[in-house]
Amino acid sequence: MYTTLLVQTENGICTVTINRPEKLNALNKAVFDDLDTIVDDIQHNPDIKSVIITGAGTKAFVAGADITEFNGFTKEQAKALAKRGQDIFFKIETSSKPIVAAVNGFALGGGCELAMACHFRVASDNAKFGQPEVNLGLIPGYGGTQRLVQLVGKGKALELLISAQMIDAHEAKQYGLVNYVTTPESLLQRTKEILTIINSKAPLAVAACIKAANAVFDETKDGYHAEIEEFGNAFATEDMKEGTAAFLEKRKADFKGK
Ligand code: COA
Repeated sequence: MYTTLLVQTENGICTVTINRPEKLNALNKAVFDDLDTIVDDIQHNPDIKSVIITGAGTKAFVAGADITEFNGFTKEQAKALAKRGQDIFFKIETSSKPIVAAVNGFALGGGCELAMACHFRVASDNAKFGQPEVNLGLIPGYGGTQRLVQLVGKGKALELLISAQMIDAHEAKQYGLVNYVTTPESLLQRTKEILTIINSKAPLAVAACIKAANAVFDETKDGYHAEIEEFGNAFATEDMKEGTAAFLEKRKADFKGK
């Protein structure tokens, strides 16, 4: 079904592995098409509660946009590519199901941008992050100038953007770019442990948290108003009745996502 992705779902967690290890999982047109499709498929699949995106092999998460596809691009074609990348990454960011990046090596350029579009990041201690586009006479095109500023602040983001300097996983954690650093061997297991906790929570409330948090960075929305709306909506869910009843009855809630 997907030509560039390996997909495995277990215990409600769908692991999506970008599978071009010989090209360090660089994002070409086929990977974009597959990512676009799978993010939609995930929303409609009742077996999936949350998602991990990772890269095949031991070396790279994603080493960027596929530079070989840039050859001969006009200004207009380049803009269309940036728009396509931004649209797909926006779809990831606004997914109602949590999507976490398990960064298992180089996350450069579009790879760093993909990781930043995910809801949060877990990294192995061999991971390296960077936006090296200025080395190529380019700038990030898939939201990197925006999300890096959001995640690490303007000063550090601009330094990384204009120096093309790579940072390791520990430094990335220090700046808030990643939440946890693990060994490469335990990366997927650790990420699954975190998602198992999240998967036990009320799915509609989880989705509402994502929506309200995204509203902070959406200038067309008032985040506080979005929070009021989502808070109100939660009161109309069966899960809210179940969650509060379970608390009062001192039992574990059984959420149905309704
Ligand atoms: N686009 C297309 N191909 C890429 C790629 C990319 N972004 N990144 C790596 N590859 C390919 C290499 O061309 C090479 O292919 P080949 O074996 O057919 O020559 C293969 O992946 C392995 O990469 P290589 O450069 O040999 O590995 P390395 O360990 O020496 O270096 C990196 C690793 C990540 C430092 C280096 O590949 C690199 O700088 N990649 C580009 C990063 C970048 O600028 N990304 C932003 C793009 S806008």
